[in-house]
Amino acid sequence: MPSLISSCIVFALATTSGVYSRQVLPRQSSNSTTQASSAPFYPSPWSSGSGDWSDAYSKARDFVSQLTLLEKVNLTTGVGWEGEQCVGQVGSIPRLGFRSLCMQDSPVGVRFGDYASVFSSGQTVAATFDRGLIYQRGYAMGQEHKGKGVTVQLGPVAGPLGRSPEGGRNWEGFSPDPYLTGVAIGETIKGIQDAGIIACAKHYIGNEQEHFRQQPEAVGYGYNITEAISSNIDDTTMHELYLWPFADAVRAGVGSIMCSYNQVNNSYGCQNSKLLNDLLKNELGFQGFVMSDWQAQHTGAASAVAGLDMTMPGDTVFNSGDSYWGTNLTLAVINGTVPEWRIDDMALRIMAAYFKVGLSLEQPPINFDSWTLDTYGPLHASVGANVQQVNFHVDVRGDHGALIRDIGARATVLLKNTNNALPLSKPRFVAVIGEDAGPNLYGPNGCSDRGCDNGTLGMAWGSGSANFPYLITPDTALQAQAIADGTIYQSILDNYATSEISALVSQAYVTSIVFVNADSGEGYISVDGNEGDRNNLTLWHSGDDLVKNVSAICNNTIVVIHSTGPTILTEWYDNPNVTAILWAGVPGQESGNSITDVLYGKVNPAARTPFTWGPTRESYGTDVLYEPNNGNGAPQDDFTEGVFIDYRAFENKNITPIYEFGFGLSYTTFSYSDLQVVKHNVGAYTPTTGTTEAAPVLGNYSTNLADYLFPNASFPHIWQYIYPYLNTTDAKTASADPNYGQTAAEFLPPDATNGSPQPLLAAGGAPGGNPQLYDVLYTVTATITNNGTLNGEEVSQLYISLGGPNQPSKVLRGFERLSIDQGQSVTASFDITRRDVSNWDTVSQNWVVTSYPKEVFVGSSSRNLPLSASLS
Ligand SMILES: *[C@@H]1O[C@H](CO)[C@@H](O)[C@H](O)[C@H]1NC(C)=O
Ligand SMILES: *[C@@H]1O[C@H](CO)[C@@H](O)[C@H](O)[C@H]1NC(C)=O
Ligand SMILES: *[C@@H]1O[C@H](CO)[C@@H](O)[C@H](O)[C@H]1NC(C)=O
Ligand SMILES: *[C@@H]1O[C@H](CO)[C@@H](O)[C@H](O)[C@H]1NC(C)=O
Ligand SMILES: *[C@@H]1O[C@H](CO)[C@@H](O)[C@H](O)[C@H]1NC(C)=O
Ligand SMILES: *[C@@H]1O[C@H](CO)[C@@H](O)[C@H](O)[C@H]1NC(C)=O
Ligand SMILES: *[C@@H]1O[C@H](CO)[C@@H](O)[C@H](O)[C@H]1NC(C)=O
Ligand SMILES: *[C@@H]1O[C@H](CO)[C@@H](O)[C@H](O)[C@H]1NC(C)=O
Ligand SMILES: *[C@@H]1O[C@H](CO)[C@@H](O)[C@H](O)[C@H]1NC(C)=O
Ligand SMILES: *[C@@H]1O[C@H](CO)[C@@H](O)[C@H](O)[C@H]1NC(C)=O
Repeated sequence: MPSLISSCIVFALATTSGVYSRQVLPRQSSNSTTQASSAPFYPSPWSSGSGDWSDAYSKARDFVSQLTLLEKVNLTTGVGWEGEQCVGQVGSIPRLGFRSLCMQDSPVGVRFGDYASVFSSGQTVAATFDRGLIYQRGYAMGQEHKGKGVTVQLGPVAGPLGRSPEGGRNWEGFSPDPYLTGVAIGETIKGIQDAGIIACAKHYIGNEQEHFRQQPEAVGYGYNITEAISSNIDDTTMHELYLWPFADAVRAGVGSIMCSYNQVNNSYGCQNSKLLNDLLKNELGFQGFVMSDWQAQHTGAASAVAGLDMTMPGDTVFNSGDSYWGTNLTLAVINGTVPEWRIDDMALRIMAAYFKVGLSLEQPPINFDSWTLDTYGPLHASVGANVQQVNFHVDVRGDHGALIRDIGARATVLLKNTNNALPLSKPRFVAVIGEDAGPNLYGPNGCSDRGCDNGTLGMAWGSGSANFPYLITPDTALQAQAIADGTIYQSILDNYATSEISALVSQAYVTSIVFVNADSGEGYISVDGNEGDRNNLTLWHSGDDLVKNVSAICNNTIVVIHSTGPTILTEWYDNPNVTAILWAGVPGQESGNSITDVLYGKVNPAARTPFTWGPTRESYGTDVLYEPNNGNGAPQDDFTEGVFIDYRAFENKNITPIYEFGFGLSYTTFSYSDLQVVKHNVGAYTPTTGTTEAAPVLGNYSTNLADYLFPNASFPHIWQYIYPYLNTTDAKTASADPNYGQTAAEFLPPDATNGSPQPLLAAGGAPGGNPQLYDVLYTVTATITNNGTLNGEEVSQLYISLGGPNQPSKVLRGFERLSIDQGQSVTASFDITRRDVSNWDTVSQNWVVTSYPKEVFVGSSSRNLPLSASLS
């Protein structure tokens, strides 16, 4: 019998009215007897300047101490959608000559920019398994953003992690393996911030699919729901899987984190006190600021006390002219609902991140505009006001094209190579087949936010995109190589020109290279009926038929896949006429050059697939939720598989993948020998104890509402723009909120305004968590020999079996990409930290090394691990 559960208020707020109405979750017609809920955690931890944040904090304290309440509110509140040149900007502090902070997409380059580069996707660079390349990509992207006047680059991404291969934005992140994603997000953050701007790790957290992530978007697609999806994640899975890379992000010193659209355990990401106050700011000791995703804020004071520090783009909904903060936050501080220490902490966190990356109060000007490529345009595009020069067309690309080309090649995974099909060496006749080898006939930027799949897939769609300065297609680059070699070269870029393709590839001596793809993106754009998430795991534009048609005729068919994740290769991968298969990811502007370098052996491939290629869609065990499952209420996405995603799921269910996680070939071969484990003498793990200081308060403020009115009649009030000021000294009228007047005690949860010293968490203590989690307990070494015929690179991998019930058979805990000349041997070395051998203990709320026997494995992929040893 379906049981109706009684209405329970998950977020522990006691009113359904006004600002807080969305706190209370609808409970109609759910069939689950125990719908997931999120425990409240208050007060919001105030920053302490711990870790390497102390210099930044002393500068921030000096600065914020000089600010008025209105100025602090300005730092926290966006000016509204398209209110200024960047995709998000907060208010400025003209009194101190401090211009507005500029938040700009994307994780692959300067979105909407001209004269800027398009880098590979995060997922593609993850396939390099190369810390140095990942760092360099971050640094180069940071330089380009800085050159345009950006303050915060909105990337990198660890949410989605990649729970389901269909997830539309998986390509923006790195890998469904949390260790690989953790390393990659950390290196990217260090790169971006070393270049002198703030990185923003996003989307925190559980943002694993596009469907239903935002209620209005879902309604736009015809789904009748009243609330966004809830990703229901248990404590262990949260710690061991989804939160893991965010711990690395915090440890790497990330300045900002973006909370996500979705709910987690039925509380919205940007007001979920468990996620923001407890996990992020308390346990992980995050010292930077939490920024909302665009329109992901749903409440005013409630989100403030739950740990949100900056609202983006500032208006409740785009161009409403209303804000949960701005005027409302000014009022909420004056009337005592939001404690002063909380607004001070918001401003401190924002300014500490700013100083931490080396920014000084004198910021370079913003020299581009997100809303037009014209030289002249409105400064305030939302209302078309203040036409002036907005684009200075500053070329920020430097020599990044060479880096992008190198990353593209060194990220290309060689999945199959038989009959010495590759590398090519002056072949007699090359036939390149497939729309994915050619241009988008509308131009590389012809589809807004890359919202189409025309021509070669150099970038996927959504806000995670950028404008191509150029896009080298495979057809262009391969033709140039062929002509230089004296090779016959012909291409057919129409997947449906079946008879013409047959006629071409059946000719003598033909090497066919078939280009195919599968695309996905962000939920606000639907391409061919894919509402962000992929509807299937097969190739687009009948790519599987294309491969089958060519390989039925041509016994040397090489397949190149550009995609945002795995596709189902089952029907053709083992056809002997398919002599080689390469996954080239989503490589960015140098796509054609990168793949040519690999096909011709200028770069000896070494990349490894950062996800599993399963035999069927069902083999993954996880999928996107495509239809609401809770009546009109929040769709309930129960992550019942726990930590068993990707290779962990395949191993757990004993399903043989087509190509396993971590797999990739080279043109040479390697052997592994001589595993050594050295145990280090480190002390026992001790829980962090003690208490914080009381919440610091910086300066004071007047409670006379007349001090907060718009400055004067001549103040250039821009329509729809969000300000911190009041229109009138009547607070209720100024708030424009019919429910104005409820006190903190009436609707905030217990302790929300409590600024007294708070206990520290056992698992906390510093950015990234208890510092002893990062003690190196073992160093493992192995000898790798290049026993083939060419110089090459090898990605050695280390996995650990943690032992015990309900554990994955093994988890990735180390990798190293090494260059090894033919005939040479080198030593790979892996440091194993305490965290690497720990499990999350839900009872003690801490990491523990269980007493189950632990084993370490070293080799070249998750299923090719010739060396092993036990860890004592
Ligand atoms: C807040 O920011 C707006 C927009 O930049 C600016 O016009 C206003 O003067 C700022 N207010 C204060 C008090 O600094
Ligand atoms: C959505 O569902 C509600 C509740 O069942 C119903 O009252 C409303 O008419 C529906 N709206 C649409 C557009 O179908
Ligand atoms: C204050 O917040 C409420 C929603 O809680 C909103 O309706 C109102 O417009 C906001 N006021 C201002 C001045 O933006
Ligand atoms: C304080 O201001 C906030 C924001 O406008 C409002 O929601 C709340 O009801 C106010 N409380 C009191 C006691 O005036
Ligand atoms: C390009 O993409 C658009 C949008 O998906 C599609 O309608 C159009 O047919 C495509 N054009 C070509 C030439 O492929
Ligand atoms: C899978 O989706 C793609 C893109 O929408 C589409 O072209 C293809 O026909 C679909 N495949 C199947 C088997 O439905
Ligand atoms: C492989 O190609 C040859 C032509 O070279 C063809 O006769 C044969 O049927 C193909 N084999 C398969 C399995 O498609
Ligand atoms: C492929 O077919 C050609 C004839 O077109 C033949 O010469 C060659 O030996 C075949 N290769 C293989 C590996 O079967
Ligand atoms: C509840 O369960 C019944 C019976 O299994 C099913 O018919 C119904 O669709 C379910 N309702 C929801 C909202 O999932
Ligand atoms: C405040 O005044 C401005 C300028 O007249 C107006 O555009 C805005 O809507 C007013 N806001 C409220 C909350 O009444």
